Amino acid sequence: MIVVFLGPPGAGKGTQAKRLAARLGLPHVSTGDLLRSAVERGTPLGREAALYLDRGSLVPDETMLGLVGELLDRGDHARGVVLDGFPRTTPQAEAFDRLLSARGRAVGIVFLLDITEEDAVRRLTARVWCPKCGGVHNLVADPSVVEGICDSCGGPLEHRSDDVRHVIAARFEEYRRLTQPTLQYYRAAGKLLTVDAGRPIDDVTAEIDAAVDDSGKPGQAASR
Ligand code: AP5
Repeated sequence: MIVVFLGPPGAGKGTQAKRLAARLGLPHVSTGDLLRSAVERGTPLGREAALYLDRGSLVPDETMLGLVGELLDRGDHARGVVLDGFPRTTPQAEAFDRLLSARGRAVGIVFLLDITEEDAVRRLTARVWCPKCGGVHNLVADPSVVEGICDSCGGPLEHRSDDVRHVIAARFEEYRRLTQPTLQYYRAAGKLLTVDAGRPIDDVTAEIDAAVDDSGKPGQAASR
């Protein structure tokens, strides 16, 4: 089963994708996390990605498809995967479908987490993350038990370098220009399910859980 989470910056893709992946026993793959980890390690991919992340631009499609294509062939991804932030352009979605179909697989359901820009900016400016394990907290909605310390690994929490207002604005512009048209691709395929993500974290999770059964297939509550 392949589940995709899309939505604007700060909509809660990572928060909800991790929860669903844990429930279904599937790997959670965030392309943003993969890129940030490559930047931290200073790999060739990281050096290329840093140029885009710091500006709030999307990394080129070929780079992203190479990265995700390799993951698909890993044994631990054979049963399925919960993708967070990929595909996010129409060329990525089309090429991803070709990669999957060559392997006899297909995207099952795409969640669009819908939120206003104002709410998203409020969340992003209060977000802290752990560069050591990728854990995410929010100073308002989801604070760590000990201030400044990651609940999962005890590492120090910090603000993401792209969570500053002018880069957030650029990320929204990229979302409107390149990702919003991709929603139509999945809507036309009957795979898009829109969730009001402006509500409390547990309410959003409840709606997602009702839409996907334990095997990862769209459940009866899925309304498009
Ligand atoms: P990525 O890391 O994917 O960034 P993004 O899309 O901007 O999304 P965010 O991670 O900012 O937000 P989120 O929706 O995951 O929200 P979260 O759950 O953290 O990508 C970063 C960059 O990588 C891109 O700009 C691009 O350069 C590159 N990239 C990645 N994928 C790419 C691709 N496919 N193609 C090309 N380039 C790519 O929640 C946000 C905060 O709100 C947290 O503090 C959380 O605790 C809190 N929160 C969550 N839900 C709620 C709620 N319901 N109520 C209150 N607070 C909440």
